[in-house]
Amino acid sequence: MAPAIQAENLVKTFGDVRALDGVSLDVPEGTVLGLLGPNGAGKTTTVRILTTLLRPDSGRAVVAGVDVLKHPNRVRSLIGLSGQYAAVDEYLTGRENLQMVGELYQMSVRDAKARARELLEWFNLSEAADRTAKTYSGGMRRRLDLAAALVVRPPVMFLDEPTTGLDPRNRLGLWEVIETLVEQGTTLLLTTQYLEEADRLANDIAVVDHGRVIARGTADQLKAQIGGERVEVVVHDRELIATAVEALKVYAVGDPSVEKNTRKITVPVTGGAKVLADVIRELDGRGIEIDDIGLRRPTLDDVFLSLTGHVTAAENGDENGDENSQGNDKGHGKGHGKAADTGTEA
Ligand SMILES: Nc1ncnc2c1ncn2[C@@H]1O[C@H](COP(=O)(O)OP(=O)(O)O)[C@@H](O)[C@H]1O
Ligand SMILES: [Mg+2]
Repeated sequence: MAPAIQAENLVKTFGDVRALDGVSLDVPEGTVLGLLGPNGAGKTTTVRILTTLLRPDSGRAVVAGVDVLKHPNRVRSLIGLSGQYAAVDEYLTGRENLQMVGELYQMSVRDAKARARELLEWFNLSEAADRTAKTYSGGMRRRLDLAAALVVRPPVMFLDEPTTGLDPRNRLGLWEVIETLVEQGTTLLLTTQYLEEADRLANDIAVVDHGRVIARGTADQLKAQIGGERVEVVVHDRELIATAVEALKVYAVGDPSVEKNTRKITVPVTGGAKVLADVIRELDGRGIEIDDIGLRRPTLDDVFLSLTGHVTAAENGDENGDENSQGNDKGHGKGHGKAADTGTEA
């Protein structure tokens, strides 16, 4: 199927900062690409180029079949965007904000009202619907911003860190909304610092760091790429380690390794829980007593660490994942004073 989003070799510099150093990606129609990377990786810059808000120094991009650089206006009518440039009007209520977007896109007043009501419900904003947005918490604003992006059901959507700063309940709620959207056929490019989020929502993941895509694949492929699953067995009797290793070779897809001190044998395997059961039976059959056994699957955290040599900021003890609270090297100035707006809800 033709890609709904395609970028070729995008380069963008800001002064000395090479924000994008040749980003290429494609998103087949009806699928979700997760652009996963730490603060400053180039995620927002990529999204801004693909949504016509920023021109690249070089490279090419096509969205919904339309050249982004040649026909930005046409692209704008085919996409939805939500993220770090909120379009919420402070002095209107939540409901009015959504209705206004509908009417702006030429929906009938009746349809705009119905869509607003539906979205307010989806985003858990019904109770606050008739208060002005200025009274909303940071998380509520973010949800309203997302709802606004969904009013017209565009065929291609860009969500830039949609759940950063949301509390766990609202994050889950939003994941469900996004899943519904995708079921209805929307193509989605989603940026995130949360490995869990990419794992759950994305068909494909592109890991970005320092303005480049450094790995690409499904979550499973990325995990397999760094070594896949392994069974870890702690043998009770040190003398039987060698026998156990021999017995386990049948199940190994690579060389088993042994830590003599802890009596732990690690065996690369494929096949998950079934292999685990087989291994237990095999060892039991040979009278080899075990103290502990487990199946270990690499997480996306392992993947990220192994690819970049560092963990993502969001997983690194910063619950908010709020970009302003990071010691990042952003040259452009959203001040620290803004952190309270986008932080976790009270
Ligand atoms: N308008 C800008 N002016 C100067 N530097 C910028 C600007 N926008 C982004 N950058 C820099 O480009 C790099 C990538 O930023 P960005 O795309 O916002 O990353 P991410 O969204 O992954 O956190 C960072 O080093 C950032 O400081
Ligand atoms: Mg960003």
